[in-house]
Order: sequence, then C-alpha cells, then structure tokens
Amino acid sequence: MRFPMYRPRRLRRNKVIREMVAETVLTPRDFILPLFVIYGRGVENPIPSMPGHSQLSPELAASRALEARGLGIPGVMLFGIPERKDEVGSSALDPSGPVQLAIKEIKDKAPDMVVITDVCLCEYTTHGHCGIIKGRDVDNDATLEVLREMALSHARAGCDMVSPSDMMDGRVAAIRGVLDESGYSHIPIMSYSAKYASAFYGPFREAAGSTPGFGDRKGYQMDPPNSEEALREVMLDIEEGADIVMVKPALPYLDIIRRVKEETGYPVAAYNVSGEYSMIKAAAQKGWIDEEKVMMETLISIKRAGAGLILTYFAEDAAKILNG
Ligand code: PBG
Repeated sequence: MRFPMYRPRRLRRNKVIREMVAETVLTPRDFILPLFVIYGRGVENPIPSMPGHSQLSPELAASRALEARGLGIPGVMLFGIPERKDEVGSSALDPSGPVQLAIKEIKDKAPDMVVITDVCLCEYTTHGHCGIIKGRDVDNDATLEVLREMALSHARAGCDMVSPSDMMDGRVAAIRGVLDESGYSHIPIMSYSAKYASAFYGPFREAAGSTPGFGDRKGYQMDPPNSEEALREVMLDIEEGADIVMVKPALPYLDIIRRVKEETGYPVAAYNVSGEYSMIKAAAQKGWIDEEKVMMETLISIKRAGAGLILTYFAEDAAKILNG
C-alpha cells in the first residue's frame, strides 16, 4: 500500500497511539547501576568528570544500592578502589577489600539486589594494566591465575554474579572452572566479551584511578574496525561458559549489539560507558542539549539494538522518569 492510501503519520498522531505501537519499551528493570567503591567509611568523593557519581565507601555504596532497588533497578556492578596497589594487584584478593565489604553491606541492606562484580586487575595494579606484566606486555596465562582467585574471592564474599572485563584469552573458562570446583556452580558469568579499546573510557579511568602508566590496552582490548572478530570473541566466551555476553561501549557499537543478539540468542548486555555519559552531561550543562530527552533516546537506542541489560550511569535518573 502506498500514499495516499497508506499514511504512516496516522499512527503518530498522539502520544497514546504512539505508545500503542511502540516496538521497544524501557523499564527500570533493564538497568544495572555501576558503583565505584572505595576503602574507608563515610567517604564520598565526587567524580568531577561524571556529575552525579562518586567514589563511595562500602556502607554508602549500600545505601545508594538500596535507593536504586527502590526505583526498580535490579542490579549493581561494583568496581573497587583499593587502599594499596602493587605490581600484581594482590589487594584484589583481600577479603576485606572495598568490593568484598560492599557485597556484604549491599546484601544486608538490599538482599534482592543482584550484586555483580567487575573482575579485572587494572584498578589494583600500580601500572594500571589489566593483568600481570612481563616485560612490556600483559602475560595472559599468569593473569588468569589471579583472575580466578579474584572471582572466587567475590563469590566467597557473597556476590550474585561475576563479570570479567580484562579481555585475557581463556578467562571465562578459568573462572567457570574455579567457581564450579569451589561450590559456586550457581554463580553466573556476565562476560565483557566484545570490549573495544575505546577512548570513551576516559572518565572511568579517572574515577577508578586505572589509567595505564605506560602504553595502552590495544594488545588485549578489541580493535574498533572489527565485527567478525567480536562474534568470535562472543562465541568463545559462550563455549567457555558465559551466561550473559556484553558489548562495550554501547553507542559506537550498536551494530555489534544487534549482531550478537541475532547470532547468539543469548542474553546481551551493553555498557553505556563513562564517556558516553559525560558527553551528555557536559553538553547539557552548557545548555546545548536537553539532557533528559537525549538520555532517554540514547537508552532506547541501546535496547532497540538488542540489549536486554543496560549498564548505565543514568540508571537512577532514567528510572525516576520511567516511574513517573
Ligand atoms: C576495567 C574496566 C573499564 C571499564 C569497565 N571495566 C576501563 C578500561 O578498560 O579501561 C570502563 C567503564 C566505563 O568507561 O564506564 N577494565
């Protein structure tokens, strides 16, 4: 049917009709809120490049998680900022490290909040790389040993899910193995499967103090031109036991989200990363864009592309709008 018989504008005439035919609907249940947990008590250090977000000590992270739960947000993702860093990131394994303590505090305050932990060494190493350094490179297999221990330490502290973001080869199998051997076969793995070497992580690295001291992460994170490779990475992670696969960042990689959704049929998560958040905040602060509208349009685009789970620093702001 063609014009003038068919007039697509008929279904756009008012808000209620538009809502009736909307193909994608956002809900607070889609969101996972990332939190930066720092050692100490009563600590709240605002992150200048990420307005609305702070490094929080474990009990304050738990209060924020409880509020988020009240808004209908089902999950948080924890990043740790330890008191001490060393060459091998040993503080990542500390049972009284910030993430381990925050897991307990959150599960006490908000027992049904799904607590997911980022498993990666970059916040814990003096050089800021995601693994153990040999020469000038990250040693893949040596790093796997530490990642296994880190995931186990989070499971012991009571997390609900672990999420490796380091991009070492074989880490999903390594983590699945140690969890299964240790009585945690019920803990799912959400793998950062297609994680690109992206400049959009800038504000996060300020927030987490994880900028590499030398070189960059291009030797382990993915190269932006590639999408076939993203599919291979995702398939490998699924074969190794990933339960949820993630694409990161979200906006410059919406095509990857769509392909991963169509070609795997697995739950797909997308990480609307720090730089994507900060750009919107900055432009809004200058009065150049309408923050709320741009935020909602951004989030719906990520869901429309195929992500069922969206990690976003906008989680609470968007949930408030969706809750009316
Ligand atoms: C840790 C990690 C990073 C992010 C999530 N996990 C930073 C990086 O790889 O440099 C980025 C998240 C964001 O920018 O919001 N490896």
